[in-house]
Amino acid sequence: MEDKLTKIVSLCKRRGFVFGGSEIYGGLSSVWDYGPLGAKLKKRIKDIWWSTYVEKREDILGLDSSIIMHEDVFKASGHLEGFTDSLVDCPKCKKRFRIDKLEKKSDNLYICAECKTDIDTQKSKARKFNLMLKTNVSATEDDPYYGYLRPETAQGIFVNFLNVLNSSHKKLPLGIAQIGKAFRNEVTTGSFIFRMKEFEQMEIEYFVKPAEADKAYQYWVKERHDFYISKIGLKNENIRLREHAKDELAHYAKACTDIEYNFPFGFSELEGIANRGNFDLTEHGRVSKKDLSFFDEQTKEKVVPYVIEPSAGVDRTFFAVICDAYQEEEVNGKTRVVLKLSSALAPYQAAIFPLLKNRPELVSLAKKIFYDIKDELPALYDDTGAIGKLYRRQDEIGTPVCITVDVESLSDKKVTVRDRDTMKQERIGVDNVLNFIKERNKK
Ligand code: GAP
Repeated sequence: MEDKLTKIVSLCKRRGFVFGGSEIYGGLSSVWDYGPLGAKLKKRIKDIWWSTYVEKREDILGLDSSIIMHEDVFKASGHLEGFTDSLVDCPKCKKRFRIDKLEKKSDNLYICAECKTDIDTQKSKARKFNLMLKTNVSATEDDPYYGYLRPETAQGIFVNFLNVLNSSHKKLPLGIAQIGKAFRNEVTTGSFIFRMKEFEQMEIEYFVKPAEADKAYQYWVKERHDFYISKIGLKNENIRLREHAKDELAHYAKACTDIEYNFPFGFSELEGIANRGNFDLTEHGRVSKKDLSFFDEQTKEKVVPYVIEPSAGVDRTFFAVICDAYQEEEVNGKTRVVLKLSSALAPYQAAIFPLLKNRPELVSLAKKIFYDIKDELPALYDDTGAIGKLYRRQDEIGTPVCITVDVESLSDKKVTVRDRDTMKQERIGVDNVLNFIKERNKK
């Protein structure tokens, strides 16, 4: 039997959610493209996050900083020195692995994940490999000058901290939020969009007075956990919090909690929330020689703020949403595959079909209904198959309501609506279609 991950990857390709990157040229490992429906779903996730934290709050401002950044940014952040994986090559199958992902046999001995040969890390020369992607930003190849594609959106926030503070005249606590691409030359492959070389993050750097950092950290852990349930609609039982042990913390972090999701391969990180202390602003202040402190009116002292960082992955949220929504049901001896997406996330809220596409009156009424509603909510018109096939297609892409125009519709001015989750069908008036969908999709 196919496992859930294989089925999800196949559905995502079949229905236009996610394709392999550069696929017609044989693909590029750990690089994925979002198709028409994937792009819609991904945008909905980002819109919900942006609206919740940037549009609806006064203490958080948005930013859209550049992807290519100056080398000194990463001297200060520690990425040039420390953002490395230890890699080793298998002497037999020649595949390259991250040592921390291999099963350990004894001190220097690991088992190859591919061909199970013993790998001696001393003989096979384990080496450090920086995960950042370096790029020539000079005008000529003879005289190269290198910048880096940011490995996290966070650094764009830290280097703009003063700009935002000075241009907005805000006081602490102040959050700066950004959604954008990040790049890491990941070696571990094979987990679909869980670990990619090019991915998107939704990060907030929430700057606070040092004495308020613990409270703000606790607040953000709860807030972000609740967001996945109340705003994204993930099932409570598939989400858990995991606090990092002291020896697991990055050297600059005072505390960190992961929000984990129950992916097909087990509970794994969806988001990390860290109390980064004042490490980032202190280091950027030191390397850039700029004063990144603020003046505390109460104590009349200059202080470098602490920062709490809820750092979420757009792609992992997307993946979690699809896993959570994916269901198989036995209906009349056949397996029905259905994505039970919330209507806030579903690529389309309704699909409209004529029962017979060779009857122009049915096509014209179905198109009229479609055009009447599509300005108000995302809808789709389809007449490219028999009704059973059209229902199956909409079930698989998560459309909550299907509306069919049949011959009776011409005389009784009613259409058949079919609910994705219950498969219940009922007749409603043509004039009531928009309201019906809105009411159904409020749930
Ligand atoms: N600024 C902190 C930071 O970047 P991280 O734990 O390395 O922390 C934060 O990344 C989030 O970004 C992760 O929880 C995950 O959702 C996402 N992420 C990180 N690396 C990723 C990758 N290679 N592919 C997809 N998403 C990734």
